[in-house]
Amino acid sequence: MYFLTIETSCDETSIAFFKNNKILNHYIYSQIKEHKKYKGVVPEIASRQHSQKIDELIKKINIRKLDYVGFTRGPGLTGSLLIGKIAALTIANYFNSKVVGINHLEGHILSCEIEKNIIKKKLKFPLIALIVSGGHSELWYVYDYGRYKKIGSTRDDACGEAFDKVAKVMGLGYPGGSVIEKLAGICRKRSLKFTVPDVKNSFDYSFSGIKTQIAYYVKDIKALSLSQKKEIAYAFQNAVFESIIRKLELACLKYKVSNIVLGGGVCANNELRRIVSDKFSKMNIRVYLPDKLYTSDNAAMLGVCLLRRIEKGGFKNSIEIDSDLEIESW
Ligand code: KG4
Ligand code: ZN
Repeated sequence: MYFLTIETSCDETSIAFFKNNKILNHYIYSQIKEHKKYKGVVPEIASRQHSQKIDELIKKINIRKLDYVGFTRGPGLTGSLLIGKIAALTIANYFNSKVVGINHLEGHILSCEIEKNIIKKKLKFPLIALIVSGGHSELWYVYDYGRYKKIGSTRDDACGEAFDKVAKVMGLGYPGGSVIEKLAGICRKRSLKFTVPDVKNSFDYSFSGIKTQIAYYVKDIKALSLSQKKEIAYAFQNAVFESIIRKLELACLKYKVSNIVLGGGVCANNELRRIVSDKFSKMNIRVYLPDKLYTSDNAAMLGVCLLRRIEKGGFKNSIEIDSDLEIESW
């Protein structure tokens, strides 16, 4: 059995080609340099880039037979999602394959099942899934493959978005996650404190307040020294991760799970990986983390979603694109 997946939800154009559970080809074209000068993703540029690149990436793959084509149908930028859908329908029509719409966030949840180009059945259910990316911060209770219940999300900014905005305020460029991680990692003066407000009696997050605190803090400083940048980065990262972990822990206790999985761009952060692994292993909770290559947007993670659907015959969801799509059960 052969299948292809296409990811074009934001600023990465990515294609993966599989034979059963093996990735035969995987390409990720990152558009970051195109958006960097605007300090954020420009939707019109993103769709133009996808339409220019997608053909080139598909042509790199030697496809003779194709049983299924999966593509991201949401959430994401409408124009970008449309390019992926059109490519999926066109190629599926040529090879007479079945087309399957896939949720990008479900891809982030299942991305940890890819190990060295092989999709493995790793996850143990039930589990709590935390998605921390540039556009989303969500907590899900997952009963099994394809059975989801949302239990929390951000009330305002996403976690990665907060990293990007704080980096912008400090003049560190876009995207901000890895540069903030680097500065925080070399900070030795750790007395500065910022706080992430607690959204009481819920598993929801709120990350816009800390960005505002930092914007006020730097407003009156003419030029930030390296030492000040390090201190701010450390205080910010620490407060955000404390908030993430507090809710994750509460969710584990309430739902009595012994498994958690993380996914999304912010999971590339070594400090987050370390704290989560340390904390939850002490509570006898197993932590699944994606390989770093699969933390940011990629088509391989969609392949895991497609394979699990093929195995269980879960094809009831639509193939219409939806920029605000929630994870659906199948
Ligand atoms: O999952 P992703 O590639 O795209 C979305 O679906 O949004 O996530 C991108 C986000 C960006 O906000 C970026 O700043 C953040 O992930 N990120 C990080 C790190 N690497 C990327 N955040 C914190 N630490 C990192 N090392
Ligand atoms: Zn993503």
